[in-house]
Amino acid sequence: MKVLHTIADVRTALGAERAAGRTVGFVPTMGALHDGHKSLVEASVPENDVTIVSVFVNPLQFAPDEDLDAYPRTLDSDVALVEGAGAAYVFAPSVNEMYPEPIETTVTVAGVSEPLDGRSRPTHFAGVATVVTKLFSIIGPCRAYFGQKDFQQLAIIKKMALDLSLDVTVIGCPTHREPDGLAMSSRNIYLSDEERPQAARLNEALLLGIEAVDGGETNPAAVQAIMKAHLAKADLGTLDYAEVVDAKTLLTPDVLTGEVRMLVAVQFGKARLIDNMGTTIEG
Ligand code: PAJ
Repeated sequence: MKVLHTIADVRTALGAERAAGRTVGFVPTMGALHDGHKSLVEASVPENDVTIVSVFVNPLQFAPDEDLDAYPRTLDSDVALVEGAGAAYVFAPSVNEMYPEPIETTVTVAGVSEPLDGRSRPTHFAGVATVVTKLFSIIGPCRAYFGQKDFQQLAIIKKMALDLSLDVTVIGCPTHREPDGLAMSSRNIYLSDEERPQAARLNEALLLGIEAVDGGETNPAAVQAIMKAHLAKADLGTLDYAEVVDAKTLLTPDVLTGEVRMLVAVQFGKARLIDNMGTTIEG
């Protein structure tokens, strides 16, 4: 396992791998890795000859009032975790290595970036799309692995890869959860002992939404009301959104049909939690 810190070292190492005919799988992360991240590495390892994991807390995707400074940084344990999962390389650049000068070029994906998190965090997804474009350019992966946990982010990266003809296959992987259903997240450590049990309401609300749709409810407002009523029980949190949308456009249709996705976001103190689940309406 090699830990690389510069763009030049990554290009040399992966250039040699590709020249030897080896395929490269890529898992971008911001570190503070948990079993959800590990599952992405485990998806890549059998499908690619070498797997590289990036660990970079990307300032571009944090608004000035967000948790850039507080975001956990645990490189040693991150390296151990991805090594155990079979990765060949970690790329852990400094901010100066990635952004030696103030950046003037950004990648914006219109449409799918706009609803949901895009409304609450208007600059976030341009920061994500820009750093992922940069990482794809540095690494040159055949396949890149993203979690469905960040469903809107996954949709944005897929659309970006399609629109810009990026030579990479973007693969979405299932959400890993704690035993009570809470989606694993590097931000869960911010939750207090009182908030932690309430955080399970997100997953429960989604399950209730799925149950309603699977039971024949096709009115988005009715499904939304069911999810909101359950989230109201998490009284230490502040609801950001609870929506049911078309899984492709991420917009709320008049009547639910085909592949639908429920997404929720709740702020608990410093911790902004998001989660989502999907179902398909047949016929
Ligand atoms: P980060 O939040 O570290 O997540 C890295 C990847 O792990 C993302 O694709 C995310 O969806 C996935 N992931 C997180 N929690 C998961 C869980 N419980 N189960 C499965 N997968 C999970 O997302 C980012 O970093 C950044 O925005 C990044 C894409 C790295 C760009 O900076």
